[in-house]
Amino acid sequence: MTDADSLQTEVAALERELMRAIGAAGETATLEQVRVAALGRKGRITELMHGLPALAPAERKRAGAAFNAVRDRIAAAIAARQRALHEAEVEARLRAEALDVTLPPRPTDRGTIHPVSQVTEEIIAIFADMGFTVAEGPDIEDDFHNFTALNIPPEHPARQMHDTFYLEAAPGAAPMVLRTHTSPVQIRAMRAGPPPYRVIAPGRTFRRDSDQTHTPMFHQVEGLVIDRSTHMGNLKGCLEEFGRAFFEVENLRMRFRPSHFPFTEPSAEVDIGCRRKGNELVIGAGEDWLEILGCGMVHPRVLEHVGLDPETHQGFAFGMGIDRVAMLKYGIPDLRAFFESDLRWLRHYGFAALDVPGLAMGLAR
Ligand code: PHE
Repeated sequence: MTDADSLQTEVAALERELMRAIGAAGETATLEQVRVAALGRKGRITELMHGLPALAPAERKRAGAAFNAVRDRIAAAIAARQRALHEAEVEARLRAEALDVTLPPRPTDRGTIHPVSQVTEEIIAIFADMGFTVAEGPDIEDDFHNFTALNIPPEHPARQMHDTFYLEAAPGAAPMVLRTHTSPVQIRAMRAGPPPYRVIAPGRTFRRDSDQTHTPMFHQVEGLVIDRSTHMGNLKGCLEEFGRAFFEVENLRMRFRPSHFPFTEPSAEVDIGCRRKGNELVIGAGEDWLEILGCGMVHPRVLEHVGLDPETHQGFAFGMGIDRVAMLKYGIPDLRAFFESDLRWLRHYGFAALDVPGLAMGLAR
């Protein structure tokens, strides 16, 4: 046996040994140790190759070629094993860190939509179907929008009737108020652009009052229609249409009773027919009446305050208590409970989050 032969036997044995070690390496760090021990600067293959110069030239050439082939096979095997281990490690990590976003929410976490929110959406859906858009104004109003522009000048007795919350005033300035009704949004809507107007404005309102049917904060929805020819008959038709759709009673009885508001002339209050059977209240039938809103033809002086000519423009406005019609429609007896955030009350009277009111599917299911 030549030196070259024994060298090659040694190399063949080393190749088998290394191939086993590569296959056995279970993680990339171990494999790296195998690689350094074989192919590194002081590795075993490198070391064997140092024996080549001692061989005779012809043998050196043959053995050198064989060595290179072994080195390349070992390197390729290491690279392949490395890829496989890396993939397995990524797989394992993905599995360990997986987040199942498909888990259903636990029933105890389920909230409900407050009746005021639900009824507000119902009202918006009905008026949107009649061509109204939604307008907004601030809860903190100035004296002009809440009173003066609505034909309630300073010292007007109606100011006392509103039980107003006043904010502390800056020296010399008129105090701001928590708006006592949504009517100031009429003024804002008309000052925001040219007529015609067809808007509703739902929102919070505030009065210093508290008993079973009054809370210091409550909700109203304002309606305003102004163009050149809108008349009282349109007002009546619009509100009757609303009443039928909202209470879901085909022959809803409604009564327009003469009344007074400084910002409308003529003015009316609207009652709906009902029957009381003990504690139960049935809407639409019976001999009793329940007031739900105030309305009228917008007063010429209000139009003048926003720069409209009462000779060419006219229309109607109404203001309705949202909490009040919510109580009537869903048989909720005490208004104060609306704002106490009692979870048992909210679960009982609240609505499922996906019960979005729309006319096509019925308002509430
Ligand atoms: N703002 C009146 C109120 O709060 C309601 C109303 C609005 C009446 C619009 C007529 C026209 O009582």
